[in-house]
Amino acid sequence: MVLYLASIFLFKNLICCPPEGILILPEAANSSRNNESPTNISHLLFGLIGSEKAWHHRKAYTESWWRPGVTRGFIYLDVAPTGDLLPWSPSSPPYRVSDDINQMVQETKHVAPISARIVHGIKEVFRERHEGVRWVVMGDEDSVFFVENMVDVLAQYDHTKYYYLGGQSEFVMSHYWFSFNQAFGGAGFILSYPLAEALSNDMDSCLRRYAHIKFSDHITMLCIADLGVNFSPLKGIHQIDLHGDLSGFLSSHPKFPLLSLHHLDTVEPIFPAMDRFQSAKHLVRSAGHDQSRMLQQTICYHRQSNWSVSVSWGYSVHIYEKIHPRSYLQMPIETFQPWAGGQPLPHYMFNTRPPSKDPCEAPHVFFLKTVNRSAEDGVVMTYLRSSERGLLACLSSGNHSAAYVSKIEVYSPLTKRLEMDKCECCDVIHSDGEEGLKVKYRKCLLSEVIA
Ligand SMILES: *[C@@H]1O[C@H](CO)[C@@H](O)[C@H](O)[C@H]1NC(C)=O
Ligand SMILES: *[C@@H]1O[C@H](CO)[C@@H](O)[C@H](O)[C@H]1NC(C)=O
Ligand SMILES: *[C@@H]1O[C@H](CO)[C@@H](O)[C@H](O)[C@H]1NC(C)=O
Ligand SMILES: *[C@@H]1O[C@H](CO)[C@@H](O)[C@H](O)[C@H]1NC(C)=O
Ligand SMILES: *[C@@H]1O[C@H](CO)[C@@H](O)[C@H](O)[C@H]1NC(C)=O
Repeated sequence: MVLYLASIFLFKNLICCPPEGILILPEAANSSRNNESPTNISHLLFGLIGSEKAWHHRKAYTESWWRPGVTRGFIYLDVAPTGDLLPWSPSSPPYRVSDDINQMVQETKHVAPISARIVHGIKEVFRERHEGVRWVVMGDEDSVFFVENMVDVLAQYDHTKYYYLGGQSEFVMSHYWFSFNQAFGGAGFILSYPLAEALSNDMDSCLRRYAHIKFSDHITMLCIADLGVNFSPLKGIHQIDLHGDLSGFLSSHPKFPLLSLHHLDTVEPIFPAMDRFQSAKHLVRSAGHDQSRMLQQTICYHRQSNWSVSVSWGYSVHIYEKIHPRSYLQMPIETFQPWAGGQPLPHYMFNTRPPSKDPCEAPHVFFLKTVNRSAEDGVVMTYLRSSERGLLACLSSGNHSAAYVSKIEVYSPLTKRLEMDKCECCDVIHSDGEEGLKVKYRKCLLSEVIA
């Protein structure tokens, strides 16, 4: 009985999440905040922690999303910048050199001086000018942040309360090794103002208490827990503790605004025929047209051919030669590998589909090429086939090959999606034999079933 109860509590803790999608929390929305201005980008203060050595090439990731003069915050380097970093790029966040905490590190025999420096960075960013700041966002320099979505999500939380928000790892064992109750730091974690303040005040004691802990995000979680606050995961923050080809993962994103992608420097480039930086830029550029739909999965069918079309907005389109329900297509295809080899199953914190050579299961894959917008058509994106699928047609659904389709146009509204309680729907416009195929977004009909 005791074990049973313990497991319920543990389980509740694991899966207890803030609301899915953009939903106003009635209490939070109406508490002490009636006279307050809506949360905007100036209320976020970023603390990015990097090293001088890595910044030479990683700054390209940060510069892809950083908006000079608009986003507030700093990049913290271990030593002063040198060489081609000077003069300092105006497209980068201003830099700071991390405090010298060597004395404390030696005194406490801290097992990981670099981790101590990273955690201490929270205090360093908090002591900067921070009038009006409501949220402190800490992250790595090889992450891409989708700041507009972040503002929209944070606007639903009461920043005067204590919040520790962030993302879990995709890799199950990471939680076992560190904690099921922590934000994985590279992808960004977010502290409400009072929590950032409390943690900063406690910083020296925190680093002393946990001098035996190796990893910075783990230390951060332990110290926050000691302040009486626990972690709330957000499904749009992605640590990307994965290797290889992310396309399956990014083509079935959870129904939650995309907030960040980490480890873009260690996975394969996310777009074929582009390098890592170009890929990150390409993704951020399309996000510039509509962050709210970024990577959101919208599914519709071409009944004449028995095709399912799954769009990951701003990234990819998959055509399956069979009608697959949304419940199935929302599971990512396991195109990627786990973060660490030789570990027990299950590897991932989500269900996956294995890649398949079955022509009814394997999609034709298209990636984003161009984005454009106009008053009449809304946002128009073209997606091109990346490579031949190299399989015969799916016979069980009528032998309707999609191999001749080479280009897909996706039309979505100019207005952003304010609510994510439900996905959007779409129509497929296509005639047999045409190389092109159009997908037009629309609202779902009342009680429309996507299957
Ligand atoms: C919430 O605040 C609005 C505006 O101040 C007010 O009109 C409304 O009655 C409040 N709702 C609740 C449930 O308190
Ligand atoms: C954000 O809100 C503040 C009020 O809290 C306002 O002064 C400022 O102009 C706003 N900034 C932007 C970019 O909208
Ligand atoms: C985008 O739209 C503009 C104006 O409507 C047009 O001139 C341009 O050629 C279009 N670009 C692409 C890539 O379709
Ligand atoms: C679609 O597939 C079903 C079997 O899954 C088949 O009975 C039906 O004839 C197919 N429709 C077309 C137009 O091929
Ligand atoms: C499927 O279609 C292809 C192309 O139209 C045709 O060559 C093939 O014989 C068909 N297969 C079957 C089993 O009907």
